[in-house]
Amino acid sequence: MVTGGAGFIGSHVARRLTRRYPNVKVIVFDSLTYAGNIGNLTDIDGQTNYRFVHGDITDGAAVENTIREYGVDCIVNLAAESHVDRSITDPLIFARTNVLGTLTLLHTACMVWGDDTGGKLFYHISTDEVFGSLGFGDGPFNEETRYAPRSPYSASKASSDHFVRAFGETYGLPVIISNCSNNYGPYQFPEKLIPLVINNIRNEQPIPVYGTGENVRDWLFVEDHAAAIDLIIHRGRPGETYNIGGGCELNNLQLVKKLINLTDRILGRPEGASDGLVTFVRDRSGHDLRYAIDHTKITSELGWRPSTGLDEGLAKTVDWYMENTGWLESVTSGRYREYYDRQYGNKLT
Ligand code: NAD
Ligand code: DAU
Repeated sequence: MVTGGAGFIGSHVARRLTRRYPNVKVIVFDSLTYAGNIGNLTDIDGQTNYRFVHGDITDGAAVENTIREYGVDCIVNLAAESHVDRSITDPLIFARTNVLGTLTLLHTACMVWGDDTGGKLFYHISTDEVFGSLGFGDGPFNEETRYAPRSPYSASKASSDHFVRAFGETYGLPVIISNCSNNYGPYQFPEKLIPLVINNIRNEQPIPVYGTGENVRDWLFVEDHAAAIDLIIHRGRPGETYNIGGGCELNNLQLVKKLINLTDRILGRPEGASDGLVTFVRDRSGHDLRYAIDHTKITSELGWRPSTGLDEGLAKTVDWYMENTGWLESVTSGRYREYYDRQYGNKLT
């Protein structure tokens, strides 16, 4: 059961699991908030081992029914409010979904599975943002780094991680957590930096760069994250935590410049044509300066490493958005909500 499977990363995970394991039923459980889009999953719609359940992780009865109905033995929890800027303007929904929702899933899994936890797994997908902010000279986050969240989003994710560990210790629930760095790739909602920049270049709109653009992120192509999640489901050790990262640090301004070059080239515009769109705007409150991940543990224990370099991944990403302008337009206009109405015959509120 992949919660949040209609979102960005969740849709890549659901697609990968459905295709690679035809004999395993993959249940996407998603409440379809603004960030959920079943149009992200149209290419696996016809697969007989895939089911979509429209449900909310804070709704214990819906979670319980789904676990019982499909005999769920593995929960991969990607359902979340995920955007830092939204957490600054509306923190309560982050506590509700990320904390209460995860707690509801944990509690319900414990209740349904009881002592019969053999072969069961509760796998929680978390973020490197729980570790706080690095200075330019600091070493990367590893699994031993102390939690020090600084935004309402990261505080809610840190809280959910603590509940997951607590359920492992207190009730013996087989739990795993992974903390990943910034993902990018197809199907990312265009409120996040990379798709927002690509879309704005395409529409010749200003590219908002927060502060001075010197903040650093460690970028990972989303399919590499999905591969790591697949590996952890199958080979991860319950009770463990794994850091996942791209080993690829870049500041926002450097990243924006790369996106301008790639996108202008595809659009047939002269080199640097969109440079003038870069607009420095007021900084994000409490903006974390730098994230970097040491992924030695998952590499040495499970053999995972990122396989897509940044230049290759960005080129694939820009290509995808340029080839899927219909997807971009349906999302930015709000028409994507109609996929659900057409397929399930009732209106999403
Ligand atoms: P997203 O915002 O694209 O998707 C979130 C999905 O969760 C959506 O489909 C939404 O409808 C669903 N959802 C939200 N509230 C729900 C609820 N109450 N019940 C059921 N479904 C609900 O997020 P994403 O970027 O794909 O991130 C997925 C997970 O990975 C999150 O937990 C996030 O914290 C974590 N993460 C993201 C990144 C990243 O760079 N995007 C990096 C590390 C970790
Ligand atoms: O590190 C993992 C995290 O990465 C995930 O846990 C989050 O769910 C995900 O949203 C992402 O968080 P960030 O805040 O790092 O991503 P975002 O795309 O919002 O911003 C990336 C950087 O770009 C950050 O330094 C803020 C900056 N930024 C962002 C936007 C939207 C801008 O300069 N301008 C913008 O318009």
